[in-house]
Amino acid sequence: MDEKKLKVLIIGGTGYTGRKLVKASLALCYQTFLLYRPQNASRLDKCQMLMEFKMMGALLLQGSFDDHGSLVSALKQVDVVVCSIAANEILQQLQLIEAIKEAGTIKRYIPSEFGMDADRMSHAIPPGNQCFIDKCMIRRRIEEENIPFTYISANCFAGVFLTGFGQLATFFPPTDHVNIYGNGDKKCIWVAEEDVAMYTMMAANDPRAENKVLYVRPPANILTQMEVVNIWEKLIGKVLNKAFILSPEDWLSNIEKYPLYEQIAVAHLYQIFYLGDLDFRPEGPNGLDTNDLYPEYKYVSVKEYLQRFI
Ligand SMILES: NC(=O)c1ccc[n+]([C@@H]2O[C@H](COP(=O)([O-])OP(=O)(O)OC[C@H]3O[C@@H](n4cnc5c(N)ncnc54)[C@H](OP(=O)(O)O)[C@@H]3O)[C@@H](O)[C@H]2O)c1
Repeated sequence: MDEKKLKVLIIGGTGYTGRKLVKASLALCYQTFLLYRPQNASRLDKCQMLMEFKMMGALLLQGSFDDHGSLVSALKQVDVVVCSIAANEILQQLQLIEAIKEAGTIKRYIPSEFGMDADRMSHAIPPGNQCFIDKCMIRRRIEEENIPFTYISANCFAGVFLTGFGQLATFFPPTDHVNIYGNGDKKCIWVAEEDVAMYTMMAANDPRAENKVLYVRPPANILTQMEVVNIWEKLIGKVLNKAFILSPEDWLSNIEKYPLYEQIAVAHLYQIFYLGDLDFRPEGPNGLDTNDLYPEYKYVSVKEYLQRFI
């Protein structure tokens, strides 16, 4: 795949993760195709984003999971497909798998994952567990059909988790008060979205990543919640008030009062900050660490990311 310009189809390129994937694909000079939904023609922000990508060199193809023919004809033009459909729509990829089989051209499929390694999350609590169940179902279908894959385990997106130091629905760093989960001592892995996208797109063209789980683990960004808060405190020259939510039972006690999407976040925060589910080293023949594969890549450190807010 290395000799010629890689042809990549991105599905979900107008979404939160997908727009970063499109930029990374173009930055790597891949021939980048973007499947966009007809509904976008009536959305000003989406139209503008699509035009921006077109001016950067992306090729726009209209289509949708609901239109099998559009998927097959888009897939026939490319070598690799990367999907970033939302967490609550993961199973739509069953239709994509059918289209991949029919097209017969795809040398690598990167399904929508980009979070915790779904196969390690069978103990996850509801309702946070559903996306892991769905992602595992897609993995098993891919493997049954012998479609070459790379699964991206991207850990915690900086824009979603780091900006609020893991606070619920907080996307700007707090300057007065922070809730600390337990003693704030569980290791988490914080990754800028643009780095997730670059690692993903580099792996898309890397034979070493075929049929592997790629763990995005920037070494300097494997930090506890308290370590991250301390970096921020040094940056702003101020100590935050800290409320320690010591017991997981307290953290989970009001979960039903939240809307569903926040219940999912509460459950995921429990997995990460109370159970320490990100604190493991990739092992076995199928796990790869981005730092071993791409040691030269200059990722955004936690401190550099937080400096953007000052
Ligand atoms: N690790 C983390 O911290 C983290 C954080 C967030 C997300 N994630 C993961 O990243 C992945 C992507 O999530 P996201 O939040 O980026 O999703 P998102 O913003 O909701 O984007 C979903 C994309 O899928 C497209 N889409 C939806 N239905 C479609 C259909 N029927 N046909 C074609 N395209 C369709 C949407 O198109 P339109 O633009 O037309 O609506 C949109 O571009 C998920 O697996 C999620 O679990 C991880």
